[in-house]
Amino acid sequence: MSTVTPADTRAVAARALAEIALDGRSLREVLAQQLPRLPQSRERAFASALVYAGARGWLRWNAALPRLLQKPLPRRLGALQALLVLGLTQMEDLGVPAHAAVAATVDAARALGHDAQRGLVNAVLRRWLRERDALLAQLDADAVSRTRLPDWLLQALHADWPAYAASIISASNAEVPPTLRVNSARGSRTDYLQCLAAAAIDAQAHAWIDSAVTLAASLDVTRLPGWFEGSCAVQDGAAQLAASLLDAPTGARVLDACAAPGGKACHILERSAVQLTALELAPARLTRVRDNLARLRLHAELRVGDATQPAAWWDGVTYTHILLDAPCSATGVLRRQPDVRLHRRASDLPALIAQQRALLDALWPLLARGGTLLYATCSILRGENAVQAAAFLAAHGDAEALPITLPAGRADGPGWQILPGEDGLDGMFYARLRKRTAC
Ligand SMILES: C[S@@+](CC[C@H](N)C(=O)[O-])C[C@H]1O[C@@H](n2cnc3c(N)ncnc32)[C@H](O)[C@@H]1O
Repeated sequence: MSTVTPADTRAVAARALAEIALDGRSLREVLAQQLPRLPQSRERAFASALVYAGARGWLRWNAALPRLLQKPLPRRLGALQALLVLGLTQMEDLGVPAHAAVAATVDAARALGHDAQRGLVNAVLRRWLRERDALLAQLDADAVSRTRLPDWLLQALHADWPAYAASIISASNAEVPPTLRVNSARGSRTDYLQCLAAAAIDAQAHAWIDSAVTLAASLDVTRLPGWFEGSCAVQDGAAQLAASLLDAPTGARVLDACAAPGGKACHILERSAVQLTALELAPARLTRVRDNLARLRLHAELRVGDATQPAAWWDGVTYTHILLDAPCSATGVLRRQPDVRLHRRASDLPALIAQQRALLDALWPLLARGGTLLYATCSILRGENAVQAAAFLAAHGDAEALPITLPAGRADGPGWQILPGEDGLDGMFYARLRKRTAC
């Protein structure tokens, strides 16, 4: 029997949130390390929900703390600071009744080893309840604490997408259930929806992405029918567009140049029997590609290598299709990766843009004449997307953009931009770049 109390669960969540928000660690990595401390799946799900909500709301509720504390908390009390943020998050975002949230948060201070600070936690949360209306008005008066997004990103959104900034902000703060990709190599989506219904899992087919199924609520994916047999994978619908836009037929020689964790590579292989090389810079991340291929019963050639240095790994035979799903700001997926808003800086952008350009330039010679390179990012910043693709076309006379028309999003420069929340999708940019057969 579990001896873990609700206070222990909150303490695990607070420690995790402190590592993410104060130490700059990735949410996925921290959860992978911290959640196994909780023995029951219900406790892990609750801690995970707290951490996601805490990261999403950090820029708002952490901004409330200086107004509630007499002096700032020292750095050694980082987990206590995160616990206070989680106390506010529970009351304001997760609908936990105030008395329950206060009592549980005070108990969690003890579970964190901060028994002496229980009075402080109680006083801070009770002060919030007394002064709530005035404090909410103060938080709403500041753009960062109102929108929960960093100032540099707000400026970029207003510069790039002035008419859409409000909807992007709202979608970036939404809590969304996972989308599945049904493995068409193992069965039809209609059949899989029936399996989900038989397992009492509420789900819906995406209206126009033929592999996508949206779940009504988050769940432990290993409970999904056929999970271990490779019937489905978790992947946002916008990411599921890559395989059809690349449109590699049976027998095509395909390079996925930035492959990990392998979602798009697996989807390409599910659609047709291509010869696919999955290249990845980070050896540990290539393991995730290997695991995903194995679970989905697919095969690809796996290579560790730097896509900007083909001499080290390329066999000299051109590819008919290349997917470049480039490292980017990830500003289109804040709703699924809420920690990106805490970690990404405006100063990261020039290096990312230069890296994307270096990848495009290095991979272009590897593409056969008449072949297609699909450039993809999960960014919504035009410098990484439309401007990047247009600059590439201007510099490469043998490149042309193939048109893209989808039911959601809009043409932007030579590509297509989907903004977060449009038709329930993540933000994603695609450009189809074809190498002319003759110059
Ligand atoms: C956006 S992710 C790719 C996601 C993947 N396509 C999928 O659908 O699962 C970008 C990946 O590129 C890798 N990467 C970054 N620079 C690279 C380089 N120079 N060569 C190869 N891979 C690189 C990163 O480690 C990261 O795993």
